[in-house]
Amino acid sequence: MYNIRKIDDDLTFVGVNDRRLNLFENVHPLPEGVSYNSYLLKDKKNVLFDTVDWSCGRQFFENVEAALDGQDLDYIVVHHAEPDHAATLDEILIRYPKARVLCSAKAKTFLEQFGHDVTNRVDTVKNGDTVSFGKHELTFIAAPMVHWPEVMVSFDSTTGTLFSADAFGSFKTLDGVLFEDEINGAEEIAWLNEARRYYTNIVGKYGKNVQMLLKKAAGLDIKMICPLHGVIWRHDIARFIEKYDLWSRYEPEHLGVVIACGSMYGDTEQAADILANALVQRGVKRVRFFDVSKTHPSYVIAAIFRYSHLVIASPTYNLGIYPPVHNLIDDMKNLNIQNRTISIVENGSWAIKCGTLIGEELEGLSDCSILGNRVTLKSSVSEDNRESLIALAQAIADDIYAKKN
Ligand code: FEO
Repeated sequence: MYNIRKIDDDLTFVGVNDRRLNLFENVHPLPEGVSYNSYLLKDKKNVLFDTVDWSCGRQFFENVEAALDGQDLDYIVVHHAEPDHAATLDEILIRYPKARVLCSAKAKTFLEQFGHDVTNRVDTVKNGDTVSFGKHELTFIAAPMVHWPEVMVSFDSTTGTLFSADAFGSFKTLDGVLFEDEINGAEEIAWLNEARRYYTNIVGKYGKNVQMLLKKAAGLDIKMICPLHGVIWRHDIARFIEKYDLWSRYEPEHLGVVIACGSMYGDTEQAADILANALVQRGVKRVRFFDVSKTHPSYVIAAIFRYSHLVIASPTYNLGIYPPVHNLIDDMKNLNIQNRTISIVENGSWAIKCGTLIGEELEGLSDCSILGNRVTLKSSVSEDNRESLIALAQAIADDIYAKKN
C-alpha cells in the first residue's frame, strides 16, 4: 500500500524508509535506519526526482503510482547515480516508457556502468541549464564530489526549493516526520547527531567541494531544501547551512576534547580516564571518551569534527599502532580532517613505538598541531605518569581557555 505525503500543491514525497539495512555502504552502522527520498512534481510535465534503493522498490513503485494518480510520468531527474538513489531507475523506465532521464553527462556514464539500460532515454544537462515543466522552472547546478563526481543539485525557482542530492542529508528514518520543524525538541539532538555522522563520514572528505556548493547556493532564495536522505529543511534553514559551513571548513563546533582510547588490558584506558578526570576538574565542560575497540569509527569521526581537541591513547601492538587506533587514524586521513589540536598517550611493555608512529601519521593532516608532552606508559600507570597526565590536562585546558578568550 502506498505511503505518500504532499509537500505543497504540486510536490509529493514518494520516498521510503529502510529499517532493515544494518550498514550504510556496508560500512557505517544504521541503528536508526535511513530514508531514501524521492519527490514527484506534478505540472504540465510530471517529474520524478531520483529513485530509491532496490530493497525498498515495492513501496516506492506503489508511492509513485499513487502520486501520479493515473497520469503519466514525463521526466526522471537523476541528481546522483549511486545505487541508493538510482537502483530502481530501470523499473521506473519500464513502467513509464515515455519518461526521459535528465542528468549530467557523467551520471549517464555511471548509470551505464551500473548496467542501467538508458540508451535513447537520456537528455544530459549541465551547470546552469534551465528546464521548464510548465509552471515550474528548474535550474541545474553542478556539485561535483558532493559526494560523487557526477552529482548535480537543482533549484525550482517557482517555489524556492533546492533539491540538494546527498547534501543536507542525514541517517535516521522518517518516523512520520517529514520536515525538520516537526521534530520533537528532545529528538532534535538525535537528528543533528545523525546528520553530523552522515555528513562527516559520507561527504566529509570533500569540504572544498561543499564550500563551492554553499557559495553557489548563497545566491539563491532558498525556501526549502529537499535532500536524498532524512528530513526536509524549511523552517530554520540558516542553522543547518551554518553547520554545513563549519563542517566543510573543518572548523570545530565547540571547544572540547575527544579522547580516542585503545586499550588491551585497561592500563591505557586508566591513563585516559585520569586525563579525562583532570580535564573536567580544570573546567573543561565537553569531554567525550571513546573506547575505539567498541565504538564504530563513524561515531568517533563525527565527534572529532565536532570538537576542537583530540587525545589519542594507544598501546604499541606488533611494534606498531594498536589496530583499532590505526584504523581511526586512517579514517581521519581519508576524510581529510584538518585544524585540530592533538595530544598523544602511548603505552608498551617493550620497544614503545606507537607514539612516534602516530605522530608521523598525523603529519599528513593539514593545520593540525601536537599539544603538550607525549605521555609514555610502561605497561601501567606510574606515579610519574599520573603527574604527566595531569600536566597534559592542564596544557589542554590552558589552550582551550586561551582560544575561548
Ligand atoms: Fe545517498 Fe552518495 O548516496
